[in-house]
Amino acid sequence: MKPKKEWIEEAKRNAALAAVKHVKDNFVIGLGSGSTAAYAIEEIGNRIKRGEIHVSAVPTSYQAFTLAVKHGIPITTLEEHPILDLTIDGADQIDDELNLIKGMGGALTREKIVASASKKLVIVADERKKVKFLGENNQPVPIEVIPFATPIVMHKIKEMGGKPLLRESNKKVGPVITDNGNVIIDVDFGLIHETAELNRKLKVLPGVVETGLFVKMADLIYLGERFDVKKLGETN
Ligand code: 5RP
Repeated sequence: MKPKKEWIEEAKRNAALAAVKHVKDNFVIGLGSGSTAAYAIEEIGNRIKRGEIHVSAVPTSYQAFTLAVKHGIPITTLEEHPILDLTIDGADQIDDELNLIKGMGGALTREKIVASASKKLVIVADERKKVKFLGENNQPVPIEVIPFATPIVMHKIKEMGGKPLLRESNKKVGPVITDNGNVIIDVDFGLIHETAELNRKLKVLPGVVETGLFVKMADLIYLGERFDVKKLGETN
């Protein structure tokens, strides 16, 4: 029997390979961030090299940008293509209604912008990410905040019943700084039942740039399991 670490990587890769089948010739696509999306980016590069497809892509992070360059995927921008055919991205948690928590990689703002520009959002993840309610297993909601506003946003989040923690870097002293020059606050809200309402309440706090709650944005999920890939969402 394969060690867990090994089959999880395989499950992530298999989910990514299934998602990349949705990429058609001449598509303009969004490239997600994280280790599962990285497998999708690699496979898109392989399909380009084999001459199966020509695509251009908008990356959601510096990581996605450098991987796209490495795998020979032509880069474009939302200026040139404000509407994208498809985005493939990862997730940190997925609930029964396909709402997501994203942003443990710190790229949530650009990920949400690119997702909102896409005709279709396909999520790739391994089975550990599927839960009944968001917030299970102490999963925090990452929130991108303008640094100046951090103390007051943390105060207001505490008043809302959340437990906020400023994300610290482990490769340098001080906080993690996002690709947009902001900080991330990881908030434990316990189990989340009113996802849309919580997202709305957070979004109106001055200084909050974006939340990691992706409410009804995912069209399709490929969930890599130990021996299979499960499809959630679309029926055909
Ligand atoms: C980054 C994200 C990632 O998609 C999410 O963290 C999943 O990453 P991984 O596939 O490495 O578990 O939202 O901001």
